[in-house]
Amino acid sequence: MTSHPVPPSPEVPLLTLDPYGADHHAEAATLRALGPVVRVRLPGDILAWSVTDHALLNDLVADPRFSKDWHNWSAVRRGEIADDWPLIGMVKVTNMVTADGQEHRRLRRLVTDTLTPRRVQALRPRIERIVRDLLDALPSHAGPDGSVDLRLHFAHPVPMRVICELFGVPEDERPRLRELMDNVFRSDLSPEEVGASQTEQYQLLARVVATRRQHPGDDLTSALVAARESDPGAMSEDELVGTLLVMLSAGQETTLSLITNAVRALLTHPAQRTIAENGDASVWADVVEETLRWDAPIGNFPFRYPLEDVEIAGVRIPRGEAVMAPYSAVGRDEGQHGADAGSFDITREQRRHLAFGHGPHFCLGAPLARLEAALALPAVFARYPGLTLAADPDRLAPVPSLFSNSTATLPVRLTARD
Ligand code: HEM
Repeated sequence: MTSHPVPPSPEVPLLTLDPYGADHHAEAATLRALGPVVRVRLPGDILAWSVTDHALLNDLVADPRFSKDWHNWSAVRRGEIADDWPLIGMVKVTNMVTADGQEHRRLRRLVTDTLTPRRVQALRPRIERIVRDLLDALPSHAGPDGSVDLRLHFAHPVPMRVICELFGVPEDERPRLRELMDNVFRSDLSPEEVGASQTEQYQLLARVVATRRQHPGDDLTSALVAARESDPGAMSEDELVGTLLVMLSAGQETTLSLITNAVRALLTHPAQRTIAENGDASVWADVVEETLRWDAPIGNFPFRYPLEDVEIAGVRIPRGEAVMAPYSAVGRDEGQHGADAGSFDITREQRRHLAFGHGPHFCLGAPLARLEAALALPAVFARYPGLTLAADPDRLAPVPSLFSNSTATLPVRLTARD
């Protein structure tokens, strides 16, 4: 392992990423324009790499020469990554996201054994009910000007309720859990807030585990607890809590952004909206895929660490460096998606996108996210056919994050005459 920091190579372009995500797609376009391999500067002056070409990133995320284990990051080994670094919550975690090889398969299988395709499909009536209830309640959330924040009152609670029910999170823990899960993806918290939030996340999830251990139910936490009890070697207590953390955070923030981004895209593309409103389930599936490609909910994902020096597009990325996956930048890569990659077009011939990643770490929740969005989106437009934006879409504040790509609010009017 290299024991000295690798200085920025003068020939590789360097871009400082905005931790507040102020203009995510402009930044993504700059990344693509700078070339297939770019150095990026993160908060705290930490340097990483970003591979901005779809085909190269596709290969990289499935390449076993890249580890996901943060112990392989030279900067961590050198003690340069403090425990209160603003992005630490996405990096120094113990779960399948940061595991490799056999360890990764072991941790992932514990979840895939319980979250089966059949179990996901069985959630359909429950999701439909949650969607219906939330749509019914929307008018009651209208502010003095008649507008409703669709992100807060619909896009957020749909995946939150689904994932909390799926994992048997007690009702009284849910409001605080929601705030803590939101924090995971933010990159604007102070060091003190990051530390406090991490401690509290683990405490809260350990309580959920203790509750389900005492009162098991037909939920995935109980299933994981049972798996651990029948074979204590299957997973440590820390890994159990870590698994809950990744499932509950990944299970809501991302799907919430997908629903928000899709509604916003349709409201700002009236011709596309008409096609969707007149279409069947397969057209709504295209809305979901096109939104994932064009406005990827996970804009950037940390990190992979080369276990040896790796050359990509003629650039040598030294062993132990951190490499970021810029999923929203590659979603608009013209090499993969054609010259009109920048347009939102639900009728395009869909080519494979990477919004759920690729390879052994491919998103484990993709079927659930697709199902939730496929049920939520047509329901909103059918229930409120006069739905319009209540704010200038170009002036909506983004989620303050390097990773999440969405707007922090989505003010709408439920009927055109509101
Ligand atoms: C639109 C919604 C979603 C998007 C865009 C999304 C995106 C992603 C991406 C890009 C990755 C791979 C990251 C990488 O290795 O580079 C990933 C992994 C993962 N996602 Fe999702 N996700 C979504 C929904 C969900 C849901 C609903 C769940 C849980 C129920 C979930 C759980 C996970 C887990 C556990 C992993 C790690 C898998 C592994 O490392 O083996 N995701 N997701």
